[in-house]
Amino acid sequence: MVKINFIDHKGETHTVDAEPGSTVMEAAIRNAVPGILAECGGACACATCHVWVADEWKEKTGDPSPMEEDMLDFAFDVRPASRLSCQIKVSPELEGLTVTVPERQA
Ligand code: FES
Repeated sequence: MVKINFIDHKGETHTVDAEPGSTVMEAAIRNAVPGILAECGGACACATCHVWVADEWKEKTGDPSPMEEDMLDFAFDVRPASRLSCQIKVSPELEGLTVTVPERQA
């Protein structure tokens, strides 16, 4: 299992165990992390799984695909650190990954 930290909009950290091969969004939903809605179920078609990736993790999580970039246009408060969490695959290298959940989605 890989530990992932979600910081909610109140500044509270929710640390969850994520299965390698699953996505950061799936880990959030399985653990009822507040603020991640994931209405499309991970199809990169809703932007309600938007998170901001902490600077020190940006290299490991990589850049959004062109399709993800397009979808991010529909997210609330998009920043350079923005990603759709359903598009971040969990791997052992992401142990300790920290992402912040915006105050609201879309
Ligand atoms: Fe819909 Fe990520 S769950 S875009």
